[in-house]
Amino acid sequence: MEWGLQNRLARFVKPNTGHTVMLAADHGYFMGPTRRLENPRATLEPLLPFADAIAVTRGVLRSSVPAIADVPIVLRVSGGVTVLKDDLSDEAITTSMEEALRLNASAVALSVFVGAAHEHQSLVSLAELVDEGEAFGMPVIAITAVGKELEKRDARYLSLACRVSAELGAHLVKTYYCEEFERVVEGCPVPLVVAGGPKLDTDKAVLELCAGAIAKGAVGVDMGRNIWQSDYPVPMIKAIRAIVHEKATAREALQLLEADKKLTSRVVRSVPA
Ligand code: 5RP
Repeated sequence: MEWGLQNRLARFVKPNTGHTVMLAADHGYFMGPTRRLENPRATLEPLLPFADAIAVTRGVLRSSVPAIADVPIVLRVSGGVTVLKDDLSDEAITTSMEEALRLNASAVALSVFVGAAHEHQSLVSLAELVDEGEAFGMPVIAITAVGKELEKRDARYLSLACRVSAELGAHLVKTYYCEEFERVVEGCPVPLVVAGGPKLDTDKAVLELCAGAIAKGAVGVDMGRNIWQSDYPVPMIKAIRAIVHEKATAREALQLLEADKKLTSRVVRSVPA
């Protein structure tokens, strides 16, 4: 791997643990003002010190993240469709590599839609982005998106989507945790991080997802709603960090979380759910 690319990756996949806690906040580009991300600056600010990277669009970066923030940026560079459409796979590259370099991004990310109507378009976008990433020393993260078909998140489908992403040159793949996640890891020759998906019912379930993913070989998480839609986002990200970087079990992390909650004020919902 070329020096610049390796150096950018090492900014957020921490060399001391080999792991990463990425904070995903790139939902608005197709979901609009998602609950508790209505004001990205207010949501992100308290979490920045605990994130190894933040995943955002250029719009949120410029408007809502101070340029002095000491946090690596994973720049979302695909888009072009919204939740108002049935088919979310009709994405293209929306932000240039030049812009990513200007914004000092540590990586660029795009969604790939394996098996969807616009599979070909998204996979060719990935391959072209990798060519540019290699030319400029910019890591490319492929996100194995499932659109509205959340039931697609099984080991058979995700193994295929992750492997295809790796074969086309992605340097890191973001996918979902699932039963038999070890099969997905085994079949993917590049590192994997897991998304959280829609908010889970309990804190325990979130922490078990993280612990399971790390135990089965993920290098980290790239999680959004289960952190910033929590009533206690900072204690939640700290508990996740304990699992990812300090080998805490889900149970130990839950104890940390409960203790931390007592010292922290609860986030009051800004608008109705
Ligand atoms: C949005 C994304 C998100 O970054 C990804 O889904 C992770 O966020 P969450 O944990 O909320 O699912 O790709 O387009």
